[in-house]
Amino acid sequence: MGTQAAPATREIAAVGVIGAGQMGSGIAQLAAGAGCAVFLLDSDPAALSRAVASISSSLGRLVTKGQLSQTACDDSVKRIKCVSDVQELRGVDLVIEAIVESEDVKKKLFVELDKITKPSAILASNTSSISITRLASATSRSSQVIGMHFFNPPPIMKLVEIIRGADTSDEVFSQVKSFSERIGKAVICSQDYPGFIVNRILMPMINEAFWALYTGVATKEDIDTGMKLGTNHPMGPLQLADFIGLDICLSVLRVLHSGLGDNKYSPCPLLVQYVDAGRLGKKRGQGVYSYGRSSSSVKP
Ligand code: NAI
Repeated sequence: MGTQAAPATREIAAVGVIGAGQMGSGIAQLAAGAGCAVFLLDSDPAALSRAVASISSSLGRLVTKGQLSQTACDDSVKRIKCVSDVQELRGVDLVIEAIVESEDVKKKLFVELDKITKPSAILASNTSSISITRLASATSRSSQVIGMHFFNPPPIMKLVEIIRGADTSDEVFSQVKSFSERIGKAVICSQDYPGFIVNRILMPMINEAFWALYTGVATKEDIDTGMKLGTNHPMGPLQLADFIGLDICLSVLRVLHSGLGDNKYSPCPLLVQYVDAGRLGKKRGQGVYSYGRSSSSVKP
């Protein structure tokens, strides 16, 4: 573990969001909506353009529904600055990382962030499963590293699961909890074990749905309808996996399998095959189901 830098004490005013994909774009929208200056960074310029379009259309829908004024919508969009150089994040109070679910890539980024951000900055990861303690150990400020696990899509889903690494300070935990509440979220707190709370329970269910499909228990439609109507879930596990991203589901299952050492977490070969084939779910137009480009309709 690294040495502990001085803890942050001020209210969070400027936020860096890294990764402008499904999650990062929604997180940027939330932070801007709460009045923060947001620096949104992605290594892919096309992802930044897509994020700005998706944030504008998401806020525009709120205006149409009468839930947001046009001025507030315009102000939120103006507060988001798209950047391509991590140096631009040197003045932020909080960084929320939402890049690819790979421990090596995330660690490399945390090393860089530790060097360039101000000593009081909090470094948070939106990881679905990777150990916060290990990400923190790549920095010299392990007391200021924390998990902030949003759910998809972040502007709609009410929950933030906060994960405390082995060294996360009480002060950083309270600041991140207050910030999560300020952006309208309910908070739960998990210790740093594989999959945390929600994915520890959700991913085995999704994996089991793949096994049921793989072994011919039922069609994908009947598996999903069974879980929707039989357990009162808003969508079935296979459709939910498509919405999360099959690559993310596979990464989380691998972390559960290696971290908890139980074969019950071993990913179903059908899930592995879909990911190998590039069928990553709704974001790619094809997963367990097919999706039209401009709609969220499911075409089995
Ligand atoms: P995504 O694939 O939609 O977006 C990831 C973005 O990160 C891409 O735009 C990519 O260009 C960018 N990126 C990759 N490496 C980068 C780097 N080194 N520097 C800057 N940008 C980089 O992925 P998604 O679904 O938004 O997931 C992101 C993170 O959030 C992952 O850690 C995932 O486990 C987590 N998460 C995902 C949820 C979901 O339902 N999809 C839910 C909760 C957490």
